[in-house]
Amino acid sequence: MARKKITVVGAGHVGATVALWLAIKELGDVVLLDIVEGVPQGKSLDLMEAAPIEEFDSNVTGTNDYKDTAVSDVVIITAGIPRKPGMSRSDLINTNVGILKTVVEGIVKHSPNAIILVVTNPLDVMVYAAWKFSNLPPNRIMGLSGALDGSRMRSFIAMELGVSMEDVHAMVIGGHADEMVPLKRYATVSGVPITQLLSPERIDAIMARTKKAGGEIVGLLKTGSAYYAPSAAVAEMAEAILKDKKRIIPCAAYCDGQYGVKGMFIGVPVMLGANGVEKIFEIELDANEKKEFMGSVAAVKALIDDLKIGR
Ligand code: NAI
Ligand code: 2OP
Repeated sequence: MARKKITVVGAGHVGATVALWLAIKELGDVVLLDIVEGVPQGKSLDLMEAAPIEEFDSNVTGTNDYKDTAVSDVVIITAGIPRKPGMSRSDLINTNVGILKTVVEGIVKHSPNAIILVVTNPLDVMVYAAWKFSNLPPNRIMGLSGALDGSRMRSFIAMELGVSMEDVHAMVIGGHADEMVPLKRYATVSGVPITQLLSPERIDAIMARTKKAGGEIVGLLKTGSAYYAPSAAVAEMAEAILKDKKRIIPCAAYCDGQYGVKGMFIGVPVMLGANGVEKIFEIELDANEKKEFMGSVAAVKALIDDLKIGR
């Protein structure tokens, strides 16, 4: 069986760490692309020099040329800039939208059949912009949100209860921002709802920490944002697609009426397989969850409406 090909655009903290997870899991050959000359080449060579120790046979190569990304099965986009002093949120959006346009055009030209996973922030807006630039059917483009936010919630529950991380499941929907919606009613430990295991106060604290978890890491690192859990989460999504696993993972997916949302991307539970987003799962939400979800949708929609790329 021919090996799969995965391109990771942006060889920064998230991109380089995604390449590491993909190689260790032997999900395919990896091409790391960045605008900065030498960095993707250097990081790829460094990873190849770890291969004998970790015993992986994925080839990892670095490039600055989109030609080398040709016929990728999956493309993960992490290229972008973080916010710098003096920049407004909309400066960041406009700069990253510009970067995304170049990246998506380069990718689609050489890999018209790829499935694209967007990581760049602000996530739900960037995946919408990437979709507009790509002209791809919406099932072939999605963004990293719930895989990461849910993993963070799972880790907080497991740490609180002192149980195995493996046994904890949790779902977070909505936009990848402070308005995200952790669903406590669907969080379980080996099938037992956490509402039977933790006090309402502790559950509320875990949900609040989940919503701010990205900021908690930024506050500690000071010079950048999280990358170990984000890259593990996007590698999990890539694995589900490359192995056609039909995993149920929330991610920013195109809604065409589901959950009362039409014509935009937002975090919802989906089935991930060889065709990308194969199905959106419409789970039951209570009145409060619905209200929070629609609040998150409105926040993302306001940012999209500010973009000058049309709806
Ligand atoms: P970073 O600054 O370490 O890496 C970004 C890389 O993009 C740099 O190597 C830079 O040279 C490259 N780049 C910039 N313009 C480019 C272009 N036109 N073409 C190719 N490469 C280009 O940043 P980091 O920590 O890797 O984060 C990347 C993005 O992912 C940020 O926008 C961050 O906010 C976002 N992020 C999103 C998460 C999510 O859950 N959706 C989680 C973690 C990060
Ligand atoms: C995070 O949640 C920065 O979106 C990134 O860590």
